[in-house]
Amino acid sequence: MKRLLVILFFVVLAAPALARPDPDVEALLGKMTLEEKLGQMNIFTSDWDQTGPTLRGQYQQDIRRGRVGAIFNAYTPEFTRKLQDLAVKETRLGIPLLFGYDVIHGHRTIFPIPLGEACTWDLGVIEKGARVAAVEASADGLHWTFAPMVDVARDPRWGRIAEGAGEDTWLGSQIARARVRGFQGNNLAAPDALLACVKHYAAYGAAQAGRDYHTVDISMRELWSTYLPPFQAAAEAGAATCMTSFNEIDGVPSTGNGYLINTVLRGLWGFKGFVVTDYTSIEEMIKHGFSKDAAEAGVQAALAGVDMDMQSAIFLNDLGKAVQDRRVPLAVVDDAVRRILRMKKLRGLFANPYLCSDPARAKRVLMSPENRAAARDAAKRSFVLLKNNGVLPLKPALKVALVGPLAEDRRNLIGNWSAAGDGNKAVSVREGLSARGLTLIVAKGCEIEGGDRGGFSAAVATAKKADVVVAVMGEAAAMSGEAASRSRLDLPGVQRDLLAALKATGKPLALILMNGRPLVLDWESENCDAILETWFGGTEAGNAIADVLLGDYNPAGRLVTTFPRAVGQVPIHYNMKNTGRPLDPTNKYTSKYLDVPNDPLYPFGFGLSYTTFQYTAPVLSAASLDARGALRVTATVRNIGKRDGEEVVQLYLCDRVGSVTRPVRELRGFQKIPLKTGEQRTVSFTLTAKDLAFYRRDMSFGAEPGDFDVWIAPNAEAGVPARFLLTEGVTLAPPVPKP
Ligand code: BGC
Repeated sequence: MKRLLVILFFVVLAAPALARPDPDVEALLGKMTLEEKLGQMNIFTSDWDQTGPTLRGQYQQDIRRGRVGAIFNAYTPEFTRKLQDLAVKETRLGIPLLFGYDVIHGHRTIFPIPLGEACTWDLGVIEKGARVAAVEASADGLHWTFAPMVDVARDPRWGRIAEGAGEDTWLGSQIARARVRGFQGNNLAAPDALLACVKHYAAYGAAQAGRDYHTVDISMRELWSTYLPPFQAAAEAGAATCMTSFNEIDGVPSTGNGYLINTVLRGLWGFKGFVVTDYTSIEEMIKHGFSKDAAEAGVQAALAGVDMDMQSAIFLNDLGKAVQDRRVPLAVVDDAVRRILRMKKLRGLFANPYLCSDPARAKRVLMSPENRAAARDAAKRSFVLLKNNGVLPLKPALKVALVGPLAEDRRNLIGNWSAAGDGNKAVSVREGLSARGLTLIVAKGCEIEGGDRGGFSAAVATAKKADVVVAVMGEAAAMSGEAASRSRLDLPGVQRDLLAALKATGKPLALILMNGRPLVLDWESENCDAILETWFGGTEAGNAIADVLLGDYNPAGRLVTTFPRAVGQVPIHYNMKNTGRPLDPTNKYTSKYLDVPNDPLYPFGFGLSYTTFQYTAPVLSAASLDARGALRVTATVRNIGKRDGEEVVQLYLCDRVGSVTRPVRELRGFQKIPLKTGEQRTVSFTLTAKDLAFYRRDMSFGAEPGDFDVWIAPNAEAGVPARFLLTEGVTLAPPVPKP
């Protein structure tokens, strides 16, 4: 119901309000000089020193002279008030600044990294995470976050896989909507709203070889089928702004791509917010070899539909001349400024520029007990149990050897892009377990990286004294996120060697992983008794890990990204194509490797529980479906284990024959259900032709008649299909525009 009201708000109130000329904005625009207009079209970063924020004189001058529309990397009520004063009191027109920041998974109270949070498969938890982030950030001076990042990511080498919702377009679209709703709330002018910025538009996740900022070269079909839908979903959910990506697609950098911005985002999807560049991506078009100099890059970006230049200062320095020379129509500048001013008005800044600079509110909400409780709840739900031969949950009476470079760590727990989060305020695994009265003996053993084995013998001695070994290992937070690509995906440094030494003691061995991407865990999966993937769980990670290790919470996270057996399998994702020679182990000339199986180590959707769930085969309400009809698919899921738990019941489809080839499976629904021990539930999904639609041969969007397989299964590799027939085709949208 609440969701319906939010949608109604955007459709009935917010969207038309954005479409109508706003008299206040028009009046203001009418008073502005070209220089003042161009000023609004820039965002600059503030500077920080070690003890707090300081503003470089140059930016102070820029603000005073009306040469900046927004500032990022500046927060706290006091600092933002000081900067806002410069804009409001010292410029001719007093237009307030917009304060933006990368509030990606929490502001001060840090939630699990987005990839981990997506593994909750719980849209309510995800929305709540964004809401708490908004409540905190908006109390700390901020109006705008550069999130959600909705880039579909299928290459674990790419460090930014940590920032998104994983490999699936459909799930990623649901999560994109939830995050936009969470950040923005239902009133952009509310003190605790945070404008969203859907990024990075577009296809940034398809960087070749997983190397950050690298070239993207994909087909139009791949662009539309895989990469664009989460952006469309976020735009439809009312995302206030959109950020262009660093990459090129088919030879055209996104920041100069009028097809993406003006034709698709604005023209086709009706996006009414403003578009900001990613950092200096206007200037980077020169190095791309797309623009001969800054002036040309500025013209290309403005004509493509970019409204705000982050950090290049090219709009500021060069666009005025281009307008005078008529290379850029004044109307283009006016439209950009209109969109920016309108968003400032909608955010309530014309009514009160200091809306988010209230120290009393900051004191009340920042890192409040409720916010920490929400972070702990999200964290425990994000963990994925990859293996367990019975060593978990830990029996409280056991003596535990807690080993590994992350056992006592706090800083890494809050992950990358941790906004104003303070690692010192995070709860380590040691602290989380000790607080529960567990007998721990601790040894670090080794660092995350490097070849030093000096700590091995102490770690092994510690293990020998204990009943069970809990090894806390993984990546450093800085090994994922921006500019953090890896070519190897195994545990860094000598951690695997340490695990082998611990294994040799013969003690039961549980591995607690912290990492921002899928890792290659071939050795670990064979040699550890249990593996719990905890990503980077945030401020409350240690407590949440204790909740799961001690069995107070039965893990229910499921992977949103495939774990390969070897880097050489990448790209590997569940919804690949069959090929003309699908794997046949008895036939050499089929699509396979000589040295590794085709299937992943852990598939999309996978995750264990401390209990066991059993599925019946899916049952269909009819053998066929027509264009206007609906088909019910039902299965019974039963908890046959000894503990209560939660299961993520997943619905997959395969369109067996199409005008273009179709993936072997595609997720089209899920339900997360609690099941008490012995309890069973009938889970049903309703399918209509819309669920069967795709970008067809002519790039129209619709469903084609023919046979479909449907699975109700615990992950993308499991289950048995049922077959039904779609008796007639249906067209839902005409062919997409051509670039
Ligand atoms: C990143 C963006 C981020 C921006 C501002 C860029 O380097 O790619 O995701 O929002 O910096 O901090």
